[in-house]
Amino acid sequence: MNILLLGSGGREHALAWKIALSSHLSALFIAPGNAGTAMCGTNLAILPTDFEAVKKACIEHKIEMVIVGPEEPLVKGIYDFFAADESLKKIPVIGPSGKAAMLEGSKAFAKGFMNRHNIPTADYQEFNMDNYTEGVKYLTEHSLPIVLKADGLAAGKGVIIAQNHVEAMAEFELMLQQSKFGDAGKKVVVEEFLKGMELSVFVLTDGKDYLILPEAKDYKRIGIGDTGLNTGGMGAVSPVPFADEVFMQKVKERIIEPTVNGLQKEELDYRGFIFIGLISVENEPFVIEYNCRLGDPETEVVLPRIENDILEIFTAVAQQKLKDIQLKIDSRAAATVVAVSGGYPGNYETGFEIDGLDILNEDDVIVFHAGTSLDDENRILTKGGRVLTVTAYGTGIPEAVKRALKILEFIGFEGMYYRKDIGYEFKSKEEI
Ligand code: AMP
Ligand code: GLY
Repeated sequence: MNILLLGSGGREHALAWKIALSSHLSALFIAPGNAGTAMCGTNLAILPTDFEAVKKACIEHKIEMVIVGPEEPLVKGIYDFFAADESLKKIPVIGPSGKAAMLEGSKAFAKGFMNRHNIPTADYQEFNMDNYTEGVKYLTEHSLPIVLKADGLAAGKGVIIAQNHVEAMAEFELMLQQSKFGDAGKKVVVEEFLKGMELSVFVLTDGKDYLILPEAKDYKRIGIGDTGLNTGGMGAVSPVPFADEVFMQKVKERIIEPTVNGLQKEELDYRGFIFIGLISVENEPFVIEYNCRLGDPETEVVLPRIENDILEIFTAVAQQKLKDIQLKIDSRAAATVVAVSGGYPGNYETGFEIDGLDILNEDDVIVFHAGTSLDDENRILTKGGRVLTVTAYGTGIPEAVKRALKILEFIGFEGMYYRKDIGYEFKSKEEI
């Protein structure tokens, strides 16, 4: 098969790596990709949201399936663009329709969906300029902390956890009156704060059936011990020790099944990944958010634990035959540690050469590129905040993390920083 993969981060390198292992692959194209994806296929200088350019590439390279990494093209309706185009409609797109992608594209839509299908989530109210004064009153009486969420896509920055009422009110005003998040913040969801451990559960659905992929936990803060600013993700581990059989059964019955059934009942066309951000409150699962794609860096530990041929799985999704697939999961743990540019998530410089990538011949370790590029002399340079991530396997999380950290000692670029405590809560091997 000829495959086109859209995106350019670590998630896309992991997808490209997994697709390149498939016995069904003829040619893989990645748009726009990075220096890592260039080792798995051919990068095309096309933006995933430029649907006309994507169409041209599909025709030129006789593409037979499109896999969408990031949310933006999905929320902008790439699935529907293909379905409505005579020359593209036979090419399956792995990802939901624009309407179904609203599970990520609109927090208010997602909350309404959860309410309609009795899916456990934090209590909430939504506000806009029309009921602004009502919102102010609601905030004044709300227990602390208060969670405020911009309704639309805000590049992971749209959630504010206010510790007091003054801060909550200021944020509310900034979002609604001063368009802090532009159109994304024209509506604000105000919700109850839930306290507990977070994890990410990934479901792949063909619109009828579903597979539950290995769960993962990501580490969003820049500093040791989950301190400092939020980032796109500094590392991840899979499996998640507290997501035991009893917990996952609750997730399945109370969250996954009602979600997949709800999509069907509401006739939302969904053939793709559902990323469910969960919080375990005294061992009871609650949904924090839905995303319509895989997570990053979670993908870099989830895909390495899947033993199946990924194109067989994607073909089953496209043909609505997912019920015939038996998922085979590697029993080992996987951990990934992200190396970022100095200064990230604030200002940082790029264009530094990355050393040490050629000496990697360790078993059970994979380096996924995120923000990298190739220069004219084929040198690999830094190109983003999150530069690369090292994934390793282990009999338990501590061993996997230790291996990833060992490899990172050999890799270097100016200003490189990474967290040495990924998986710190899961100390002993017996925990998994
Ligand atoms: P989101 O952008 O929806 O993933 O939210 C970003 C982060 O905010 C989540 O990963 C949680 O850590 C936190 N968060 C969001 N909603 C809540 C909530 N209701 N209670 C506690 N923490 C939350
Ligand atoms: N790691 C969280 C995300 O991909 O949204």
